[in-house]
Amino acid sequence: MTDFREDGAAALEWTARYLERVGELPVLAQVKPGELSAQLPAAAPEQPESFADVLRDLDELLLPAFTNWQSPRFFSYFAVTSSEPAILAELIAAALNQVAIVWRASPASTELELRVVDWVRQLLGLPEGWHGHIEDTASTSTLAALIAARHVTGRDVVLCSEHAHSSVEKGARMLGMNLVKVAAADDLGMVVRGRSFDEVACVVATVGTTSFASVDPVRALAERTRAAGAWLHVDAAYAGSAWICTEERWSQDGVELADSLVVNPHKWLMLPMDCSLLWTSRPEQFREAFSLVPEYLRTPEDAFALSEYGPALGRRFRSLKLWAVLRCFGAEGLRSIQREHIRLAKLFAGWVDEDPAWELVAPQRFSLVVFRRHGTDEENEAIVQRANASGEIFLSHTKLDGRYVLRLAIGNVRTTEDDVRRAWEVLNR
Ligand SMILES: Cc1ncc(COP(=O)(O)O)c(C=O)c1O
Repeated sequence: MTDFREDGAAALEWTARYLERVGELPVLAQVKPGELSAQLPAAAPEQPESFADVLRDLDELLLPAFTNWQSPRFFSYFAVTSSEPAILAELIAAALNQVAIVWRASPASTELELRVVDWVRQLLGLPEGWHGHIEDTASTSTLAALIAARHVTGRDVVLCSEHAHSSVEKGARMLGMNLVKVAAADDLGMVVRGRSFDEVACVVATVGTTSFASVDPVRALAERTRAAGAWLHVDAAYAGSAWICTEERWSQDGVELADSLVVNPHKWLMLPMDCSLLWTSRPEQFREAFSLVPEYLRTPEDAFALSEYGPALGRRFRSLKLWAVLRCFGAEGLRSIQREHIRLAKLFAGWVDEDPAWELVAPQRFSLVVFRRHGTDEENEAIVQRANASGEIFLSHTKLDGRYVLRLAIGNVRTTEDDVRRAWEVLNR
């Protein structure tokens, strides 16, 4: 059983200590598949154990099996930060356990969510009047957008670039919609011309693709999409957060014409999983696609239920951590972290560019660098595997035109120039 105050203090101490030493731990978990399972009891205990036992096993059994996303040398996928204000807010949100199914089930959660999502809308320079709410992930947000698009258009074709995130394909597949992937142009952006949009329900444009951080020509796509009566969804899950810096808004051109937009603060606004912001410029039609209020949820107050705008009924109190982060960092604090990440990415890209043994394979955008060493795919793959096995850094790969290429993504608040320099040294070693 637990003594909440005592165990709580121990849990907080564990957390603080973990964050202090995370840079000393291997970045990628250095365990083999099944190694942890073999050490875990096959069944739950019949008798209560202490929370201290849980913390002990966290250290002894689980710690070696964590890939440390909070490490300053985590450069894989999209690197992220779960910041201290958000961690504390998650603790309180769990204590409050607000299940915001309808307004009265949690007026605070519903109204704070609307307000803070609107704060972010303003910080990103998005149009007034857009309705925004929080979903768990960009995968769900995009799924919701596809549902709205099909509802509004009565069509079932989804159009996206070959570089769109797999969540678009997965969403289309789950909905039984037909996905058409368009080959990208030389700049890795989606090609607009040469195809009729007349049968299309939804065009998904990406700002900041997963592999290359490339940007689709949103304005041109929006014009074609509108003319064909289709829905435009913009996936800016990663790069959209960078619009808090006005100098990154070149990539926002045309987004004001979108029917829906997803941006994930859990990628680059110092929030932990999960927090995905979904806006729509057509709230009434979006609501029509989802609203289903059974008798047992009808209330005397004719107020707002955010569950009418997406797939889930039970909604967790995600706005609390967003509120905490926006207040404790302030917009300027968040901007300066992102600017530093972008500076470090440019610095690394410069080293690659100047070294004849290496090459940049895509224009450097936001905080991502995509590169390879001159040589075979096997040689490049071996470099990544050896680097990750060292535990010193963790980076991931993708393919461009069939060639194996490396990705270095910067997104952790603890990452310094020394960490990025170390990554370069490890790769060259
Ligand atoms: C551009 C883009 N869209 C969507 C996603 C999916 O995000 P989520 O894990 O929140 O579903 C990702 C994940 O990296 C992404 O990079």
